[in-house]
Amino acid sequence: MLSTETEIAAPFDVAWVRLQFPALSESVNGQPAAFLDGPGGTQVPHKVILAIRDYLQHSNANTCGAYATSRRTDAVIAGARAAMADFLGCDADEIVFGPNMTTLTFALSRSIGRELGPGDEIVVTHLDHDANVSTWRSLEERGVTVRFADIQENDCTLDMQHLARQITAKTKLVAVGYASNAVGTINDVKEVVRLAHQVGALAFVDAVHYGPHGLIDVRAIDCDFLACSTYKFFGPHMGVLYGKREHLKRLQPYKVRALVNEVPNRWEMGTLNHECIAGITACVEYLADLGRHVNSKSTNRRSALLSAFQTIQAYERTLAERMLRGLLDIPGLKVYGITDLQKLANRTPTFAVRVDGHTPLELATKLGDRGFFTWDGNYYALNLTERLDVEKSGGFLRIGLVHYNTAEEVDGVVAALQAITQR
Ligand SMILES: Cc1ncc(COP(=O)(O)O)c(C=O)c1O
Repeated sequence: MLSTETEIAAPFDVAWVRLQFPALSESVNGQPAAFLDGPGGTQVPHKVILAIRDYLQHSNANTCGAYATSRRTDAVIAGARAAMADFLGCDADEIVFGPNMTTLTFALSRSIGRELGPGDEIVVTHLDHDANVSTWRSLEERGVTVRFADIQENDCTLDMQHLARQITAKTKLVAVGYASNAVGTINDVKEVVRLAHQVGALAFVDAVHYGPHGLIDVRAIDCDFLACSTYKFFGPHMGVLYGKREHLKRLQPYKVRALVNEVPNRWEMGTLNHECIAGITACVEYLADLGRHVNSKSTNRRSALLSAFQTIQAYERTLAERMLRGLLDIPGLKVYGITDLQKLANRTPTFAVRVDGHTPLELATKLGDRGFFTWDGNYYALNLTERLDVEKSGGFLRIGLVHYNTAEEVDGVVAALQAITQR
């Protein structure tokens, strides 16, 4: 039905990709900027910038009015829902827009919480971003018990047996990340959803970090909800929630009376960011363009997205291998997460490291001065930095790659780290 990997043109055309992103030509202190901060937010292609400008110039209005710009706005939102439905593999009326993943997830947890109380349990994980933990822990004030699934410390993967033991007949929801924004581990979310459904619990997936790295198929995963943020996959600063239609209809959101009761609109509070919604269609189109660029046989947008993510994954694994080989060669440096080169399919190219005698902040600052944009701290993966006892000493240095990064940037940041730490 869809394109195969063998039809994908090789090698990866990173020059074509980089041409689409104007920000990649920035420089710092005379050095070209290397954006190794993708897990915090990615740069956007021309297409996204133009779509946002075009919306503001030609369609700027509120929704559902009886005049041209308002009708255009309605069409822009409908187009973005269709684009995100292709991106996630669902129907357009199962797509909810909001300011970001955290806000959408709090709204959902409050709504689900209306039905929960003492004796009910929720399972979260130590690997997760706090937006997929505190949002559920907020229901503790209703008497709900929250249980934590642990990790295997040696490679920061989820301890699936421990997770399975936390899920009982009392479990009402299991919240899991698709991939860790700190250490890059990709979780077997399909299996977690299966375990949740076995006891009749709902399954919520945080796909914010996974979004730029692999094609998401909510039907195949069978999750009840999945949230992502478009600014992590080359789009504007917005969040998107997928919910199975039956849940979006049945659950009661907190909403104003005047807001319609239709799905998905009943979940969208107040006026949305219409210009960014215009940009969402454009970022999905950019990825589909990449798919068509590498596989002209892509028949529709979903199959073009599949081709895009096949080529992205193959390319990102070459970068990840290069990065790991370089990092592991630096004396005193520890990589947290999967380092086995045979298991690159189980991680994103996001690397959390610490170097003896240097704080993550010091390293990020020195790298930043040389044009390498990385992150330091916990990036809200607080449950993991606390679990690994690195929170008090500054967390990790995070180097995060996406498909617009290059082998030269990988070599450059490794060499810079080597120079900084061997002074
Ligand atoms: C894995 C993960 N989950 C959730 C979030 C929160 O997303 P948002 O900023 O859209 O609320 C982030 C943001 O960094 C993240 O990386």
